[in-house]
Amino acid sequence: MIVFTLLCSYASISSSQATSSDGFLQCLSASGIPSQLVFTQSSPSFTPLLKSSIRNPKFFTPSIVRPLYIVTPTNASHVQAAVLCGRRNGMRIRVRSGGHDYEGLSYRSEHAEVFTVLDLSNLRAVRVDTQTSTAWVDSGATLGELYYAVGKASNVLGFPAGLCPTVGIGGHFSGGGFGMLLRKYGLAIDNVLDAVLVDARGRLLSKTTMGSDVFWAIRGGGGESFGVVLSWQVRLVAVPPTVTVFNLPVSASQGAVDVVTRWQQVAPALPDDLFIRVLVQQQTANFQSLFLGTCDALLPVMSSRFPELRWFNRSFCKEMTWIQSVPYIYLGSGSTVEDLLNRTTSAAVFSSGYKATSDYVRQAIPRDVWATIFAKLAQPNAGLMILDPYGAQAAAVPESSTPFPHRAGVLYNIQYMNFWSMAGSDGSVQTKWIRDFYAFMAPYVSSNPREAYFNYRDLDLGENVVVGNVSSYQAGMVWGQKYFRGNYQRLAMVKAEIDPDDYFRNEQSIPPLPKSK
Ligand SMILES: Cc1cc2nc3c(=O)[nH]c(=O)nc-3n(C[C@H](O)[C@H](O)[C@H](O)COP(=O)(O)OP(=O)(O)OC[C@H]3O[C@@H](n4cnc5c(N)ncnc54)[C@H](O)[C@@H]3O)c2cc1C
Ligand SMILES: *[C@@H]1O[C@H](CO)[C@@H](O)[C@H](O)[C@H]1NC(C)=O
Ligand SMILES: *[C@@H]1O[C@H](CO)[C@@H](O)[C@H](O)[C@H]1NC(C)=O
Ligand SMILES: *[C@@H]1O[C@H](CO)[C@@H](O)[C@H](O)[C@H]1NC(C)=O
Ligand SMILES: *[C@@H]1O[C@H](CO)[C@@H](O)[C@H](O)[C@H]1NC(C)=O
Repeated sequence: MIVFTLLCSYASISSSQATSSDGFLQCLSASGIPSQLVFTQSSPSFTPLLKSSIRNPKFFTPSIVRPLYIVTPTNASHVQAAVLCGRRNGMRIRVRSGGHDYEGLSYRSEHAEVFTVLDLSNLRAVRVDTQTSTAWVDSGATLGELYYAVGKASNVLGFPAGLCPTVGIGGHFSGGGFGMLLRKYGLAIDNVLDAVLVDARGRLLSKTTMGSDVFWAIRGGGGESFGVVLSWQVRLVAVPPTVTVFNLPVSASQGAVDVVTRWQQVAPALPDDLFIRVLVQQQTANFQSLFLGTCDALLPVMSSRFPELRWFNRSFCKEMTWIQSVPYIYLGSGSTVEDLLNRTTSAAVFSSGYKATSDYVRQAIPRDVWATIFAKLAQPNAGLMILDPYGAQAAAVPESSTPFPHRAGVLYNIQYMNFWSMAGSDGSVQTKWIRDFYAFMAPYVSSNPREAYFNYRDLDLGENVVVGNVSSYQAGMVWGQKYFRGNYQRLAMVKAEIDPDDYFRNEQSIPPLPKSK
């Protein structure tokens, strides 16, 4: 394996491939893509456009490998043309919807690769049909734009996806997508009914024409491997007119270690109307909850099911509509529903680089280990942990029904994050803290494989190795089985059907596995 890595590194193969960048531009123009939708590095709009949806500023420094061009299609036909022109001229494409990729793979390359970014932010229509409780949403829309449109159309419909309103539909849906409605209604992908995809041959396909294998693969297997997903039809879900939100911090001196230890068993087994996650930072465990009902209905559930959270009483309840709960939970109490439409990534967050990774827990972690975890979170430059409970509907879907395999038996997901100010720090201390902490956690989390959530992408888990001119299936197993468990092999077989030449490729795209081999 090490020999392979040295001889056949990603960079040496891709740079030896003939790219005709002039030919690419001429082809785009001849295909009818208006020139004002094509940006070269010398265009004054290039840098602001590139930066517009970057969420992690550590990938916006001079040493980062940038795209040669950015194309901003306004029509499906532009996407088809860009793919065909790219193939003809040896120009690879990276698709960007919301730009929130943790490793920035939608707009930067880890190696010296020549590529063009296809930025879908102009393709962001949302059409809600309350008659059928469904919606069509384009990949370039944000979660906030989807939620807003649903909330405007009805006060008893919602959608189960992530918390952060600026996350893009395209990356989020193709990688899974979960939030506070996870236990009641599963993930975003569990509620996708149809999709429109442009494949590596430039064809515009629907669920019927792409076939059941490809439709399976794009719901959790990562869109970037199979083509460009342009839009998705989703089933909307029922929410009551009043929901209840609470935020309850418990400090270590109040007994946070005991309450978190207990939470591990309680939260994944609660009634599915009640979602309680924990943000553990420094010496405080902050319990954040969404309940699909009133405070009156919540109080008895809390006292019977989670008496250890003994501080909880009516004064913590905030009743509101579901759509109001979305900005309240993520953006804070001063925010409004209109803030969901703001696509600007927060300037404050923008000045902080970050490193993140994830784990799944299938057996509750012992109390004494939690005591050690709290001690480690008190170290200088320590990060934070977000614990999201699974169970209920998230677990009811069979492991192979979608590429997302973290189903029955999972108690909760852990997300580790560590932030630093870009002014005066390169983040190496914080990144090392995360890596050390991840190593420390190994005995207490899932193993064989140690599972990770694809949408919390981490290149530390492994990267593709290109052999000949395609990514190696063998090498990809290292990271692929962590994200997809047994579904990795089927994903690779689907890849071989839809994109055998591995045109849609990045550092963690699914490698093709031809059937005969
Ligand atoms: C602040 C923040 C909060 C988050 N909160 C949550 C959360 O609550 N729940 C959760 O599940 N996840 C969450 N995530 C993770 C998020 O789901 C992923 O980062 C997701 O992939 C982002 O999608 P995007 O379109 O914004 O990203 P992009 O960077 O645009 O794309 C991500 C990947 O998908 C590919 N891709 C994008 N669009 C398409 C398309 N249309 N067709 C094919 N491939 C495509 C890209 O090439 C890239 O490889 C969060 C991330 C951040 C930064
Ligand atoms: C896209 O182009 C097709 C044909 O070129 C046209 O029929 C369609 O209306 C266009 N769609 C949009 C949204 O402009
Ligand atoms: C609820 O708890 C808060 C904080 O512990 C306390 O100040 C308040 O008196 C309690 N309210 C009721 C109604 O018990
Ligand atoms: C949008 O969000 C950004 C970052 O949080 C903020 O600076 C800006 O004021 C917001 N714009 C509007 C119109 O609210
Ligand atoms: C990769 O190699 C195969 C076999 O040599 C060839 O058919 C295919 O066109 C190549 N693909 C690319 C993208 O160069």
